[in-house]
Amino acid sequence: MSNVYLVYFSPTGGTEKALRLLADAWEGEKKTVDLSLRDAAARTPAFAKEDVCLVAVPSYGGRVPALAAGRIKELAGNGARAAAVVVYGNRAYEDTLVELCDLLTEAGFAVRAGAAAVAEHSIMRQYAKGRPDEADEKTLRGFSAKIKAALESEDPAPAFPGDRPYKQWGGSKSYPEADDTCVGCETCARLCPAGAIPFDAPSETDTAKCISCMRCIAVCPAGARSLDAASVAAMAERMKAVFATRKEPELFV
Ligand SMILES: Cc1cc2nc3c(=O)[nH]c(=O)nc-3n(C[C@H](O)[C@H](O)[C@H](O)COP(=O)(O)O)c2cc1C
Repeated sequence: MSNVYLVYFSPTGGTEKALRLLADAWEGEKKTVDLSLRDAAARTPAFAKEDVCLVAVPSYGGRVPALAAGRIKELAGNGARAAAVVVYGNRAYEDTLVELCDLLTEAGFAVRAGAAAVAEHSIMRQYAKGRPDEADEKTLRGFSAKIKAALESEDPAPAFPGDRPYKQWGGSKSYPEADDTCVGCETCARLCPAGAIPFDAPSETDTAKCISCMRCIAVCPAGARSLDAASVAAMAERMKAVFATRKEPELFV
């Protein structure tokens, strides 16, 4: 029996949302593999050649987030057919899709299709706000049937945009901090993909481990975690031009 897997690294949920729309054409139960979990046992099912895997990551600086790349390398594709999906915040995704395709191929997946979609920028949330929106939903659901057909065919992987060697990215230095409304519930410490929040001091952040994914802000029930608003506003102002045009979802089959 074949399984349909949704495999995703989605710290603030935008990537997962776009992926679920792209999975619309598959009826029935879909299994999920959440690459943001630190528990390695939960991330490594044995895929079979008959399985179909839709694998999605956000673009960080035009690359696959290094933490997600490491976790994809631990997967065993065993010849399962895969679609590579990149979700980005309406700036650009540069080499992310080609890198994801390479990672999946090296891990033993047969990549047959791909897509790029836009979701709200998880740092500068004024950009791509509310996306994927209604128009995106329609487009992504429409892509789904085409991706399914490509995965059922024997056609080789399409050409993905992007360069090798991949662009260099130094990482983000936007580290969330908790204010005194932190109730010490440890939700952020449990869900931080990088293990950067100490259980014994959940209002702190280990900046050597933090990957700036913003999940702690998204999951905090007290709304205690945030980035320095003035720095985010300055960064958004500096980068305004590259966000000015609305980017549309793209399909690669
Ligand atoms: C550290 C970091 C780097 C990012 N780099 C880019 C980028 O280079 N281009 C872009 O368009 N969006 C970028 N984004 C925005 C994310 O790709 C986008 O918000 C994505 O939907 C986040 O996925 P998630 O909601 O599943 O966490 C970045 C976000 C973060 C946190």
